Amino acid sequence: MSKRKVTVTQLRKMKQAGDKIVSLTAYDASFARVLDQQGIDVILVGDSLGMVIQGHETTIPVTVDDLVYHSKAVASACHSALLMVDLPFMSYTSPEMALRNAARLMQEGGAHMVKLEGGSQQIETVRQLALHGVPVCAHLGLTPQYVHKLGGYRVQGRAAEAGQQMLKDAIALQDAGADIVVLECVPIALAKEITSALNVPTIGIGAGKDCDGQVLVLQDLLGITPNAPKFSKDFMAENTSIANAVSNYINDVKSGAFPAKEHCFV
Ligand code: KIV
Repeated sequence: MSKRKVTVTQLRKMKQAGDKIVSLTAYDASFARVLDQQGIDVILVGDSLGMVIQGHETTIPVTVDDLVYHSKAVASACHSALLMVDLPFMSYTSPEMALRNAARLMQEGGAHMVKLEGGSQQIETVRQLALHGVPVCAHLGLTPQYVHKLGGYRVQGRAAEAGQQMLKDAIALQDAGADIVVLECVPIALAKEITSALNVPTIGIGAGKDCDGQVLVLQDLLGITPNAPKFSKDFMAENTSIANAVSNYINDVKSGAFPAKEHCFV
């Protein structure tokens, strides 16, 4: 039996029911098909493609054209999953620019939701996107487009003040219209606090198992990323097919077996 199309409303119901949301990145039709067939809830065409597909050291060189191209490919095989696509570096420096580029991701790329990085500085942009019918995911914590400003890929929100600011930002972004919040590289306790404070779901990556869902970069899960981050897990190590690795990841997130302590930060 084929799975029903995942919607923003359904993601919210999943949070209320305590049913974990499972997400993975994909950048082409072949992998998207496998993920969709295994029942993944959300496929993310992330700007991580700058690293895993294009071979750059950061996500910064990725353009809107790149994301439209990869989103189109993924959309062709994405039948039940919700398709979330990143707005890349410098493509949403004003609400007007964000609206223009979100329109391209949705109209040309087939995206169902756009994701953008940043806290309070994005509130007006999120409000305008939401007012114009664009579902939005706000990305907090380690925001890779800010890597040079952050001084590297580091856990965020460990200091009490920074943690409280992240909590305030998450609430303000939700109130502005964000439908999901991604928390990347955030201490377990802070991610738990933000998750309980919000009505919209949180999706964690290196943020502990108390988030409403989990996302990983597909290449990390497949064990082909050199020096993969601590928060990821090579599911191919214990599986003989990609479909089985994806299916085990889904089951482990749903059951709470992933992430384990060793994939988290305190
Ligand atoms: O670009 C990406 O793949 C992401 C995930 C790491 C959340 O933003």
